[in-house]
Amino acid sequence: MRRKLVAGNWKMNGNLAANSALLYELVAAIGHAAPCDIAVCVPAPYLALCQQQLTNTAIAWGGQDLSAHEAGAYTGEVSATMLTDFRSHYVVVGHSERRAMHGENNALVAQKTVRALRAGLVPIVCVGETLSEREAGRTMQVVGDQLNAVLALLEPADLTRIVVAYEPVWAIGTGKTATPDMAQEVHAGLRQLLAAQDALAAAGICILYGGSMKPDNARELMAMADIDGGLIGGAALKSADFLAIIAASSNH
Ligand code: PGA
Repeated sequence: MRRKLVAGNWKMNGNLAANSALLYELVAAIGHAAPCDIAVCVPAPYLALCQQQLTNTAIAWGGQDLSAHEAGAYTGEVSATMLTDFRSHYVVVGHSERRAMHGENNALVAQKTVRALRAGLVPIVCVGETLSEREAGRTMQVVGDQLNAVLALLEPADLTRIVVAYEPVWAIGTGKTATPDMAQEVHAGLRQLLAAQDALAAAGICILYGGSMKPDNARELMAMADIDGGLIGGAALKSADFLAIIAASSNH
């Protein structure tokens, strides 16, 4: 059975005092024993804070993006090794906000995924369709193209080291959630694509759901056969909500 993962995606929120307080509250509540894997993906300036406050706890941390390049004249970018310098475990790759607002295409997302893997990071590879793509019946085509672009660049052994996140764009930050059945259908389709590469590895890959996951819908979503946890935006910013989602991951 796959262990669930609940990962917070803080996006560009908070400040030093508030983010430190949030980490403190999470550690105080979770300590060393957690019902699932837990992570927070924070803005890069707060990685050092995570290292300070989360080392030797059950909460891992990571970035929200990384550069496709190794190092050099790339003003504003953060490299994979800068993330690992601060002991990041995860990095979000190809979030729909990066795809939509920063022009990231499938090829670039695939390169970033490889860069993350080569640095020893676990990439959380995001895929998801827009509302118009869903309404046109193109959901599986779109998420399939997004995932296959990444799979095409991976070595066989990499497959056991990625996390996939299905985040329907129309559900992110909107309060609209995919129903458990809608999400399960896409998750099962994604797992089939992974299985086409390696059936054994596919059975162990964690596929997260993201898009307005909240304490009141997390349990039914995570009860679905192929939903292995959540990538949580808004609800990761309040410790009580994030902790409630973590609690909802158990007993499945
Ligand atoms: P949301 O964001 O939970 O606020 O919808 C999820 C995400 O974008 O990862």
